Amino acid sequence: MTTTRFPPDFLWGAATAAYQIEGAWNEDGKGESIWDRFSHTPGKIADNSTGDTACDHYHRWQDDIAIMRRIGLKAYRFSTSWPRVLPRGRGPVNLRGLDFYDRLVDALLAANIEPFLTLYHWDLPQALQDEGGWENRAVCHAFADYSALMVKRLGDRVKYWTTFNEPSVVAFDGYLNGGHAPGRQDAKASFQVGHNLLAAHGLALQAIRAVNPNLQVGIVLNLWMQDAASDLPEDVAAANLAFESSETLFLDPIFKGHYPAGAYEMAGESMPEIKDGDMALIAQRLDYLGVNFYSRNLISTQGQIEPVPGSEYTEMGWEVCAPALRRLLNRINDDYRLPPIYITENGAAFKDEVSVDGKIHDERRLDYLRQHFIQTNLAMQDGVDVRGCFVWSLLDNFEWAFGYTKRFGIVHVDYETQKRTIKDSGEWYAKVIAGNRVEAE
Ligand code: FCB
Repeated sequence: MTTTRFPPDFLWGAATAAYQIEGAWNEDGKGESIWDRFSHTPGKIADNSTGDTACDHYHRWQDDIAIMRRIGLKAYRFSTSWPRVLPRGRGPVNLRGLDFYDRLVDALLAANIEPFLTLYHWDLPQALQDEGGWENRAVCHAFADYSALMVKRLGDRVKYWTTFNEPSVVAFDGYLNGGHAPGRQDAKASFQVGHNLLAAHGLALQAIRAVNPNLQVGIVLNLWMQDAASDLPEDVAAANLAFESSETLFLDPIFKGHYPAGAYEMAGESMPEIKDGDMALIAQRLDYLGVNFYSRNLISTQGQIEPVPGSEYTEMGWEVCAPALRRLLNRINDDYRLPPIYITENGAAFKDEVSVDGKIHDERRLDYLRQHFIQTNLAMQDGVDVRGCFVWSLLDNFEWAFGYTKRFGIVHVDYETQKRTIKDSGEWYAKVIAGNRVEAE
């Protein structure tokens, strides 16, 4: 048995996102979001489902906080729905929407759980999409105004703020392959959106700090490790190129103030319009970087090697490769001058079954988390400043284009009855948090 110990103030958390759990899509004055529109469009979601009800968290939030308490979470990462508080994206405020988040935050604090608030986890108000969405620079300013509004209301209690969750997914799934809302397939638009999201991030940082300069403000990026299939220089070059066209594309502007050279080659004609001052806006100081880590790609000159012989895969078709997390953290730590890091998402979808004993024996998820916690700890010993880890996800939920077909929760949700059951992985996580250590064979 080996024991891996964590620093006393390590922040153990779990994450969710508004559209994936809240439901109540048109209640109490909430406006329509692009995900409402998208999921209501036939053929867009694998199981033809929607987030109309999802986990009904909008009504069950107190029960959900009780579950967080049982697990002993020290932090909870959630997102606020922009159209719930500003039904048309700007203009009249929907106080009932704002009150919902107010109560949620108060209850989290009363439960001794640190709120980590994400302002944008993909549910743009449809009214702003009708103006061109993220292709339209005016939307970036609307985002900054919405950010300031939220900070004015909650900044006295919420210390950790995230502008965007995974801008690359918004740009490329939303605008290039079209698998996500708003379902566009336009290369030029996707690069402009990628840039505009970063500009909006910069504008929001200014707006947030103008209201309250004492907050911890960051951004969350999805980073995959791109491993070379061999030591051959060609394979290493191929893997580096892959890293540059996805990871570096967002890390460089934020932490170096310019796009990587490869971006210009990759985008070609589609290179976005960059306004004077944009790069400085984007590269403002951050208080933390959020890293969402799930898997890696193994790259050779022939492209991605898949499946990797002998590797385990999750229901998403993502390889389980925890050592890649340590390599990734070391790589970005070497390449950039980074603020403290939080692993803002890490977890796995597996086919769960409710056993005859009523429990969910999700041994594989438990093992996935154990391995990734240990690799995070090793990266910390290597010198990477990781301050906390958030499991994706607290609850099984609406997994975007996959609907309810992928379960990531450490808590099982029966979508018929909305009954929640803590899975074995959740019970195990409770012990990890209580002991602040991970035990492994
Ligand atoms: C991330 C998203 C999150 C969830 C996980 C599985 O890209 O941020 O909402 O869908 O993937």
